[in-house]
Amino acid sequence: MDRPTANCISITPTGASLAADVSGVDLSQPMDAASFKLIEDGWHEHLILRFRGQHLDDPRFLDFARKFGELDKAPIHAGQLVEDPFPEITVMSNIKVDGKSIGNLGHYEAEWHTDMSYNERTPIGSLLYAIEVPPEGGNTGFSNMYEAYDTLPAALKRRIAALQCRHDSSRNSAGELRKGFKEISDPREAPGAVHPLIRTHPVTRRNALYLGRRRNAYIIGLPLADSEDLLHELWAHASHERFAWYQVWKVGDLVMWDNRCAMHRRDAFDPASRRLMHRTQIKGDKPYFDSATVAA
Ligand code: SIN
Repeated sequence: MDRPTANCISITPTGASLAADVSGVDLSQPMDAASFKLIEDGWHEHLILRFRGQHLDDPRFLDFARKFGELDKAPIHAGQLVEDPFPEITVMSNIKVDGKSIGNLGHYEAEWHTDMSYNERTPIGSLLYAIEVPPEGGNTGFSNMYEAYDTLPAALKRRIAALQCRHDSSRNSAGELRKGFKEISDPREAPGAVHPLIRTHPVTRRNALYLGRRRNAYIIGLPLADSEDLLHELWAHASHERFAWYQVWKVGDLVMWDNRCAMHRRDAFDPASRRLMHRTQIKGDKPYFDSATVAA
């Protein structure tokens, strides 16, 4: 495919609550400003973009991702080289070499979550590129948190407008305790950043439910039982399938998502099959709720 020009690119919504396919673009080639603008606007409109049939080595994958902003360095992983030539790439894989995992998350299910919401500053977006995929399973679900917010009853919107939630940093999205963290039995004692339950997107100015992950979450200032009840109600609403779309991976797919307004999860897959994905994250900002975005 030739160098992408904006008039070759088309963006086709999946028809679900979120996500669109982008065609007519070879991401390994340099891109003009008009093409990039079309893609960036499409990302803001559809929350998730999928580019199929790409052939990207790590430098080209990172070149494309850097167009959206500075990238986060990946946390050091046990199987990773100390002199890692691409510290912005996180390997997501169940593959083992000489008995050692080469990546994160193995073959496990990952529960609904937003990347690194337990940090003060959270990545605005993540890009995941498929290098090897299992014949079945390992699909990644995405969920539209603008719609989840928009469809809350008005009284519930008003109730959560002033509330903040603590996002537990002690476990990963597969539920594994991270190294150096203690087992938590009371969510009020969980470590992690505190963020508003409603997040205003700085570009679209739309509001989204911002839940992070369910385990050990705690709504600041509420009695524990009230916090649990409210979180239960919000999660039951937000994880409804009508807000979701599932990516069934093919080799060469690149999917990017907006962490400010979408959650994601992953299905487990057969540990005997291989899955290898490269992921990178665009550095972000502190989540905020701008009350001026809602009518008084
Ligand atoms: C994740 O980033 O949470 C995992 C996504 C995936 O492996 O499909």
